[in-house]
Amino acid sequence: MSITFDKDRQLLTLETKNVTYQMQTDNYGFLHHVYFGRKVNGSDMSYTNVSYDRGFSGNPYDLRYNRAFSLDTMPQEYTSFGVGDFRVNALSVVNADGSYGADFRCVGHKVESGKYSIPGMPAVYDNGGEAETLIVTLMDQVTGLKVHLYYGVFEDKDIITRCVRIENSGRAVARLEKAASVCLDMPFGQWDLVHFHGRHCMERQMERSPLIHSIQTIASKRGMSSHHHNPFVILCDREANEDRGDCYGLMFMYSGNHKTEIEVDQLENTRVVMGIHDAQFLWNLRPGESFWAPEVILSFSPDGFTGLSHNYHNIIRHNVCRGKYKLQRRPVLINNWEATYFDFNEKKLLEIAKQSAELGVELFVLDDGWFGSRNSDLSGLGDWFVNTEKIKGGLQPLIEQVNALGMKFGLWIEPEMVNEDSNLYRAHPDWAFYQPNRAPSLARNQMVLDMSRADVRDYLYNCISALLRENHIEYIKWDMNRALSDVYSHSLAPERQGEVSHLYVLGVYDLMNRLTRDFPDVLFEGCAGGGGRFDPGILYYSPQIWCSDDTDPIERIKIQYGTSFGYPVSTMGAHVSASPNHQTGRTTPLETRAVVAMSGTFGYELDPSKLKKREKQEIRRQIEEFHKYYWLIQDGLFYRLTKEEPGRFFHAWQFVAQDGSESLVNVVITSPQPNSCLIHVRLKGLDPDAEYVIEGHSRRFTGSALMYGGYTFPLVSGDYPSMQVHFVRV
Ligand code: DGJ
Repeated sequence: MSITFDKDRQLLTLETKNVTYQMQTDNYGFLHHVYFGRKVNGSDMSYTNVSYDRGFSGNPYDLRYNRAFSLDTMPQEYTSFGVGDFRVNALSVVNADGSYGADFRCVGHKVESGKYSIPGMPAVYDNGGEAETLIVTLMDQVTGLKVHLYYGVFEDKDIITRCVRIENSGRAVARLEKAASVCLDMPFGQWDLVHFHGRHCMERQMERSPLIHSIQTIASKRGMSSHHHNPFVILCDREANEDRGDCYGLMFMYSGNHKTEIEVDQLENTRVVMGIHDAQFLWNLRPGESFWAPEVILSFSPDGFTGLSHNYHNIIRHNVCRGKYKLQRRPVLINNWEATYFDFNEKKLLEIAKQSAELGVELFVLDDGWFGSRNSDLSGLGDWFVNTEKIKGGLQPLIEQVNALGMKFGLWIEPEMVNEDSNLYRAHPDWAFYQPNRAPSLARNQMVLDMSRADVRDYLYNCISALLRENHIEYIKWDMNRALSDVYSHSLAPERQGEVSHLYVLGVYDLMNRLTRDFPDVLFEGCAGGGGRFDPGILYYSPQIWCSDDTDPIERIKIQYGTSFGYPVSTMGAHVSASPNHQTGRTTPLETRAVVAMSGTFGYELDPSKLKKREKQEIRRQIEEFHKYYWLIQDGLFYRLTKEEPGRFFHAWQFVAQDGSESLVNVVITSPQPNSCLIHVRLKGLDPDAEYVIEGHSRRFTGSALMYGGYTFPLVSGDYPSMQVHFVRV
């Protein structure tokens, strides 16, 4: 039983393998947050909640003679604006009479076996007997508004999920101005905030800084989870490192606007509120209706960043990603984008396919430019019909020729967008977002389709499902190349425009759900101008996401490093591209490009006809090597051996088989030095008492020697060299 209730103390305790989470209802119905952290084996932790009278922190009316009791200082599970808690709140509601009050008191709870799901939205799922659900219900007696707090407890995986259902059981419309998914109060401790910021071609750069007395916000108002701030934060103790220290993770399972506010308050308490961004959000909750705030995946590890990452890797790989390719070996692909951009015809494509088939590539992906009048980014989006001037005879004959080479065929689409210069826009201008009497802002010459509309989604479903039915397509890359602005639905009344941004995301999920359900054999890869929508919401529909449009391996190390804190290697789309690199102009060895791309789903994105004979041989070797290490890389435990820091001249990371039987260590010299210092790393995760050899060598090392003493790599020189060393247990 991972959820227990002590009736006398009104204490609810959630326990996983290593973690305890506790809350308590008092005599007045207020729901206190009591504890979240290292396992305390059922101890009642409520003694830690001590309160005193604090000036300017008022008291609820029914506790007016107890000046020590204040919502402004008490740790809570969920908080609302307007009734005396002046810290960041999770909920802000405007009642029918214009008031802002919502005074939530606990009216009951229930425990269910299995994991709750959320209608129309992605949520972590139970593979059978893994999880329990707790639902705690709070109610505002005046309006009848109810808040149902959902907790999904994955005991073996050290994961607790949370989401909220707000139910209007009153008689008047309630307008939600803010409806966050989680409020997490951390009454003690001083914390560092770790978050993952960036920009296009430079996603998920890890940044760590101490929290100060303020409200710090990690957010996106771009209608997408964004290149700029991933919806994932870690709070760790000031001394935490890869191996040690308390780390709390909050990951938002949502692909649209998001906001995480972290406040350190007057008494040094930390509060984290995570949910849908309140910008342009105003949800009309009519009587009888419910609003579901998306899920947050919470985890705690006392074992530093590595422990926390392993928890997230495990849950995402096994309880977020779905479908045939979740755990099945995925094909090594070649994508024609950086080889041709828009400039191709079927002959050129077939030549790329033919040459890459000879190298051992298994899947040919035709990227942007195959449809409508798409010869540049000026036109064509929305017209999902093959351009037979470019691909004579249409798609199926091309696919047959690719299949005859022994390769699968994959296709790029960008369903959510439309060009002004397209038949779709000419026929349905009102299907795009723009505000009345205003010209829309364009990005990459495109506009955003109103995915809140069922007719738009049906059109897209019909186009894409016809493509998938009529052609033997085994992979889809689903791209999205601009942020949302001018958000306005021409099918909704003015007072409902504050719902559109969220309805857009629900619409995207609906289309993804229909397509992945109806075409279960197709491998879907998410993409948004690289990694602009790299989040667990998208991973629920596609088990991999193109990590970044930057394919420079030296830059990619930083991107994949940051990504690895929350997401497993099996989700990171990574390709070997041409050198000099198209984004940075840097020249790097082919070997290094492959070492980096192998720490992802692995593929190529170059024109093989431009390769020298030696390079082709090298690619053949790389693909064989990737096959050999496939399960070690994709299923093994991932360890960061180095961190991003000034003066660092090499980076190293390691995969260890779950049973400790083998390990692959990767090293890349990212800043070659003259008269170089030694490259020395301490390995991790090995069996300390076992002996290991480097494959093909006889010298034995104990696991403890490699972990505590470390391993010194030979010095190598040149531009950005790399090494891979495979240790095998004897
Ligand atoms: C952005 C993607 O990230 C690229 O890989 C490529 O598919 C282009 N879009 C095509 O327009």
